[in-house]
Amino acid sequence: MPFIGVFLSRRKAGFCLLAVLALMWPVEQVLFPYVVKMIIDVFATYQGDRADIYAALARPLWLGGILWVTSVVCWRVTDGVDYLFSPALQADIRETLTGYVFGHSHRYFSTHLTGSITNKISDMVQGVHMLVTQSVRFYIPSLMTALLTAGIMASISPTFAVILLGWTAAHLGICVYYSRACDAVSHRHSEMRSELMGRIVDSVGNFITVRLFARKRAEMGYIHDFQTQEIRAHKRMLFVIAKVKFLLEIPCFVMIVLLIRALVSAWQAGSVSSGDVAFILSTTINLMYLLWRVGMEFPSFYREIGVCQQALELVKEPHELVDRVGAGALAVARGEIVFDDVSFEYHAGQNLFSGKHIRIGAGEKVGLVGFSGSGKSTFVNLILRLYDIESGSIRIDGQDISQVTQDSLRAQISLIPQEPVLFHRSLRDNIAYGREGATEEEIIAAAKAAHCHGFIMASEHGYDSIVGERGVKLSGGQRQRIAIARAILKNARILLFDEATSSLDSVTEAAIQDSLEAMMAGRTTVVIAHRLSTLLHMDRVLVFRDGAIVEDGTHSQLLALGGHYAQLWRMQVGGFLPDQGEG
Ligand SMILES: Nc1ncnc2c1ncn2[C@@H]1O[C@H](COP(=O)(O)OP(=O)(O)OP(=O)(O)O)[C@@H](O)[C@H]1O
Ligand SMILES: [Mg+2]
Repeated sequence: MPFIGVFLSRRKAGFCLLAVLALMWPVEQVLFPYVVKMIIDVFATYQGDRADIYAALARPLWLGGILWVTSVVCWRVTDGVDYLFSPALQADIRETLTGYVFGHSHRYFSTHLTGSITNKISDMVQGVHMLVTQSVRFYIPSLMTALLTAGIMASISPTFAVILLGWTAAHLGICVYYSRACDAVSHRHSEMRSELMGRIVDSVGNFITVRLFARKRAEMGYIHDFQTQEIRAHKRMLFVIAKVKFLLEIPCFVMIVLLIRALVSAWQAGSVSSGDVAFILSTTINLMYLLWRVGMEFPSFYREIGVCQQALELVKEPHELVDRVGAGALAVARGEIVFDDVSFEYHAGQNLFSGKHIRIGAGEKVGLVGFSGSGKSTFVNLILRLYDIESGSIRIDGQDISQVTQDSLRAQISLIPQEPVLFHRSLRDNIAYGREGATEEEIIAAAKAAHCHGFIMASEHGYDSIVGERGVKLSGGQRQRIAIARAILKNARILLFDEATSSLDSVTEAAIQDSLEAMMAGRTTVVIAHRLSTLLHMDRVLVFRDGAIVEDGTHSQLLALGGHYAQLWRMQVGGFLPDQGEG
């Protein structure tokens, strides 16, 4: 696979050294029996005084000794090379894949299970390592052993070499012929396993919901359904492997019968010595054992190829959102946002925004209102270019956002998301995420502005407290305030608040409002709120309905218009919008 080649080419020296050192194996496999043959021949033909046998044995014993020392040195050097090679290879694959996965679009992450993605990364790391080391340290040396053994046997009698090579060819032929079948079933199995792991991670990740609805049994049933499919795929794979093993046994049996017959005839004719018999038998048995192992390992080798190919889908799928070649950085001087004739769809047939022209002036504060699902977050996501639009253009200060680098675009925008998710790191790290290199003072100032400092100091380890996976150890409002602190620290030119204070009580919200307003001064701001009262001080309100912007104006203009906004305003109970179904 060219993919593996890329990683090997980065550490050619280690790989080549491993390959060369592994050749010690075939040499060892053939020469040790040859030394035994020499020793037996000495014993069988020795005529002198038995006390002096060492003199006659000197040659084979020296040869054996040198061989032994050389092989020990080779294997220990191999360990040393592997010590440098394997962990680095695995780390390289892991980092490259993780880096690539980060480049995938929002759409990719919303259609692929995180558990399945991480499972593929770990499969690939293990798989490539296994394929490389098995090839270099096992398959190639085994083949070399077969050729070397046949070569030496040919020098004794060509018949033995023919029998041996015939069997080797039949053995490997069967392995290769059935490898495709093994590949198909193993690919299917690894796909099922990956899917199963994704489902398990999804279930476990939702443990709170599972517990709240007392649905452990149902959840286990849900996993069990996937488990059943996985078991079926696994059994199918084991069956094909067992069939291949059985087929390999047939030529093995034929070969050994033919070889013993040929050996006995040659010995009867006096063309082979006792030492030759010992040599041929021991190398053949060695080789049988070796090729048998090749046969046994081959399906799992192929299975690993299947696993890797499946994992390769992570990188086979090109990045959906890429920076244009030669794209420059977005330069924001004023912060004007223009939606020009934009239309967008998450899936075919949906038409959001339907070609409207919207201009949000520099420094303007615009509120977005509308029923749940009317497209407000989508509007914000498009400004961030989390998705590419179908037609039209979105421009910031006259620059089309699809023509500038994504990093430079997002660096200029602070988003407080609807559902802030935190890293399983300390509170300090989570806030500091807003700006690389922020000082402790800046972090604390941001935390104070977002009214988090109090609860942070009251927590067990202060700023060093770990927030739990996705921030589960914090309350919803605390999580939201950390997200606000992060955004304050980022201090970007354009601010997008997607229900930024929705989880806060009205006292805390009012307190934070001052900080938010200080942050908004002179910045272009888009605020999404279900609590319409929070939008009263906005310069303008955009009203969303079923994915379209249906009204645009100030609060009083829209009220006077008597349209959707006026209806929403009237319907508002206690400052909140009801769901569309209730409206
Ligand atoms: N990743 C997605 N893939 C497919 N459809 C999506 C995706 N995100 C949102 N949608 C759909 O697009 C429409 C607009 O969703 P959006 O999140 O913009 O609504 P919203 O106005 O922000 O709602 P809320 O007030 O509940 O946050 C909805 O019908 C929603 O189901
Ligand atoms: Mg939303």
